Amino acid sequence: MLGSAAQAASMHVEVAMANRILLAYSSRTGHTRKVAMDIASALDCDVEEIRDRVGRGGPLGYARSSLEAIARFDTLLAPTRHDPADYDLVVIGTPIWFWSLSSPVRTWVRRHRDDLRKVAFFCTCGSSGGQRALAEFEALCGEAVASLVLTDREIDSGAHAASVAAFVGQLSPRSRRTRGG
Ligand SMILES: Cc1cc2nc3c(=O)[nH]c(=O)nc-3n(C[C@H](O)[C@H](O)[C@H](O)COP(=O)(O)O)c2cc1C
Repeated sequence: MLGSAAQAASMHVEVAMANRILLAYSSRTGHTRKVAMDIASALDCDVEEIRDRVGRGGPLGYARSSLEAIARFDTLLAPTRHDPADYDLVVIGTPIWFWSLSSPVRTWVRRHRDDLRKVAFFCTCGSSGGQRALAEFEALCGEAVASLVLTDREIDSGAHAASVAAFVGQLSPRSRRTRGG
């Protein structure tokens, strides 16, 4: 039988483990990154920027990104630093590309879908596509415990702060629902 000090230490480890949160995101022009940093600073969690080895700048990068989004192609990811299997909750953020997930995020989710216990979803867009991308996301890795769709205009003006606070509130351990129940 464990002594009380050992029991307390083991409980502490259990609680710390139960609250481990990873935020994984990709961003081409900075909007998703800005929201990711706001959420990560509120949650005080680990952060993984999902990068790929493909040039995404300029008209050619835009065209390539569009094609990958339309055809649901995967991309070649750069090495990552965190294993999502080590986390109780993974918050995943993506820009919307042609009403769908960006290819770096889709590739990462496809790769790790079996490692994800609980997921939350946020996305940034010019104006539309968030709900369709959320449906695509949930079809890949299960129901999100919380979701957030923001437009570039909201982010650029700072009007996204209240929505981010509400989203973060839904991710606190007490208010978190488990997937499917
Ligand atoms: C290839 C591509 C496709 C896009 N498709 C959409 C779209 O379907 N709907 C929309 O509202 N915005 C669309 N956008 C705009 C981005 O979703 C939006 O600017 C987003 O905030 C960019 O995030 P980022 O700055 O983190 O890269 C698209 C942008 C790119 C590059």
